[in-house]
Amino acid sequence: TEHPTYKIASIPADGIGPEVISAGITVLKKLASTLGTFNLEFENFDWSSDTYKKTGKYLPGNALQTLKKFDAILFGAVGAPDVPDHISLWGLRLAICQPLQQYANVRPTKIFRGTQSPLRNCTTGDLDWVIIRENSEGEYAGHGGRSHIGQAWETATEVSIFTRHGVERIMRFAFETASKRPKKHITVVTKSNAQRNGMVLWDLVAKEVAAEFPDVKVEKMLVDAMTTRMVLKPESIDTIVATNLHANILSDLAAALAGSIGIAPTSNLDPTRENPSMFEPIHGSALDIIGMGIANPVATFWTAVEMLKWLGEEKAANALLEAVENVCEKGIITKDLGGTATTAEVTNAVCDEIQRTL
Ligand code: NAI
Repeated sequence: TEHPTYKIASIPADGIGPEVISAGITVLKKLASTLGTFNLEFENFDWSSDTYKKTGKYLPGNALQTLKKFDAILFGAVGAPDVPDHISLWGLRLAICQPLQQYANVRPTKIFRGTQSPLRNCTTGDLDWVIIRENSEGEYAGHGGRSHIGQAWETATEVSIFTRHGVERIMRFAFETASKRPKKHITVVTKSNAQRNGMVLWDLVAKEVAAEFPDVKVEKMLVDAMTTRMVLKPESIDTIVATNLHANILSDLAAALAGSIGIAPTSNLDPTRENPSMFEPIHGSALDIIGMGIANPVATFWTAVEMLKWLGEEKAANALLEAVENVCEKGIITKDLGGTATTAEVTNAVCDEIQRTL
């Protein structure tokens, strides 16, 4: 057929990862079969903390070559109680993101119809942000070391790396994102008062790139002030660009302010499209609710929406998001959002909504 077929690698990994990814695939298959304008082919990879405990490795040696054959990667969550978090994060997630040059991490946040922000007076439409996180260097570059281990003078360094190349490409991506949104407004988050090297380069490059986007309104804000602004004046924010660490923290705050960490998605993009991009819910493996059937699949559905947009299926993406919001509005929501529905009930309701509306 002339319909495009997208090959998706799925890596559910740990904890509730397999529960939400399986829900996501169910909904995506339903959407593709109902629309009939594109095909999706999934291949599952069982790379997880269990694999690590059995083989000593998260990824087989040829993993990156294997992943490069796919159009996109759908990722669950990694993290197990008996593996240190820095081993699991670097062993699986960062081991994919960094070599595949997925340097732009995109985190949209909004309040869905039918869900509630913990902020008094803040409703749907008042909070509609996209956070762009530098995803390849900065504080998570992995540069540093430990010496004199076990001695009283034990020393550890964690060096932030800011390169002109790295800062410039994330700034350009962020400004492009801002220029395509109705408000054309970007906040460059920094900490150049205290961090007087890397963050000063960050500000300088932001200013240079801003000159290429005269239609985008730019402002600079210290990360500490940004936290209060997000809580007190959410409607004054639109696009945010921040470093790896700063954006990591701000986006969890953003997810909580929007109602739950159980709805927020993330895209790890290689904007050059040389490598496949990776899409995942922002939450972790949620060890406290594994196997209870109450994991909120909405973050994974919204993740699927972002993946479809990246693949060029804008219409299907918007239809899926609409279906998910409709289901939330009907009150079919999981416990984290104040409801009583199970993962399966929300998934079925979204499939029914797709059937009914498309
Ligand atoms: P978490 O996001 O897994 O859980 C935080 C809280 O939110 C828990 O109470 C959990 O039950 C709840 N929650 C998260 N997702 C939910 C969902 N879809 N539906 C309903 N409730 C949900 O963060 P936590 O507890 O700090 O980390 C647990 C493990 O996950 C750790 O090993 C951590 O390293 C890992 N992690 C992995 C991430 C990734 O793979 N991208 C991101 C964050 C944490």
